[in-house]
Amino acid sequence: MEVNNLALTQYRNIENLNIDFSGNLNIIYGRNAQGKTNIIESLWLLTGYKSFRGGKDSDIIMFGKDIAKIKAEYQTSIRKIVSEITLSDKRRAYKNGILLSSPSKFVGEFPVTIFSPAHLALIKDGPSERRKFLDVSLCQLSPSYREAIKKYRYALMQRNILLKDLQYNSQLYDTLEIWELQLALYGAKIIYKRLKYINYLKNFSENVYNGICDKAEKFSIKYVFLNCNGENIESEEEIKQLLKEKLKSGRKNDVLLKMTGIGPHRDDICIYINGKSARVFGSQGQQRSAALSLKLGETEVIKEITNESPLVLLDDVMSELDYKRQDYIFNKIKDYQVIITTCELSGEIGKHEGKIFRIENGGLS
Ligand SMILES: Nc1ncnc2c1ncn2[C@@H]1O[C@H](COP(=O)(O)OP(=O)(O)O)[C@@H](O)[C@H]1O
Ligand SMILES: [Mg+2]
Repeated sequence: MEVNNLALTQYRNIENLNIDFSGNLNIIYGRNAQGKTNIIESLWLLTGYKSFRGGKDSDIIMFGKDIAKIKAEYQTSIRKIVSEITLSDKRRAYKNGILLSSPSKFVGEFPVTIFSPAHLALIKDGPSERRKFLDVSLCQLSPSYREAIKKYRYALMQRNILLKDLQYNSQLYDTLEIWELQLALYGAKIIYKRLKYINYLKNFSENVYNGICDKAEKFSIKYVFLNCNGENIESEEEIKQLLKEKLKSGRKNDVLLKMTGIGPHRDDICIYINGKSARVFGSQGQQRSAALSLKLGETEVIKEITNESPLVLLDDVMSELDYKRQDYIFNKIKDYQVIITTCELSGEIGKHEGKIFRIENGGLS
């Protein structure tokens, strides 16, 4: 996939901007608070997801205005597409000029991977960040995963409502099973796909970490599911049976806590450096390298599975790395279309041929 043009209107501090990207390396450079991350964020929104910065959609509209627009022309291996998002009273998405029933219809259309300082949360924060990482990636890759997530969330909500209602009406107890069967069915699909995904990701990200750290440290990841180590479990059917049993045996506890204590909504990716938790024991630098390895690993998984190269967005990554590591990363991403932001053109960045955009006060200069 290749994005050819981006047009922004009243997007944060950007009144009007029109950029023609190169199909290889693009460098957006400028001082702090000029609008570099805003450009990266706008491209990310075209994936159909919310901003990686958090906050509300309305925060994105330029102060004092009532609408913001993002429009991009891009090319997949088979066709040209114009995607447009408008943010006003609500978010609207248009594909080739036609209004879609929901902006989430963009998910899977515009493959992008992104790494920004906010993504350090992947290592530092709790399990929900890592589940989100898996879900965002897998939803881009697989419509059946999207469907399973939707059905699972619905069943989870229903079972949780029931758990609360049981205190008033204990006769409802047997109804739990109906939702547990649904949770086991869709939960197993989710876990099975996550396990397969992690298998790919493991190889790619360990490889990247080795490259960044010169093999001095051992990086590894593992998907930990249903509170067990997963040994001897291979098929979706086995996962389904296990989840069904665990939901049943957890009922008493779940009734007490009024929530469902087991399932893919509680799973995690454990991340280790030299066999120790990267979250607990990793230094700042190790955590940054670990997060970057997962993100660059994700880029390669998407390419491997879809045969389509995602657009790679790297926000403010290079300044934190020494020249050797910068060089390794440039090498790793050289076959992708990349958009990088930076405050300085020194170091490795200056050595690479790319299209350079200098941004000042929300405009090109
Ligand atoms: N809704 C908004 N309207 C106008 N300006 C905004 C809005 N949201 C953020 N900004 C401004 O955008 C600038 C930050 O842009 P950003 O892309 O994060 O900078 P950087 O170039 O450092 O990456 C800040 O000056 C901020 O005040
Ligand atoms: Mg920035």
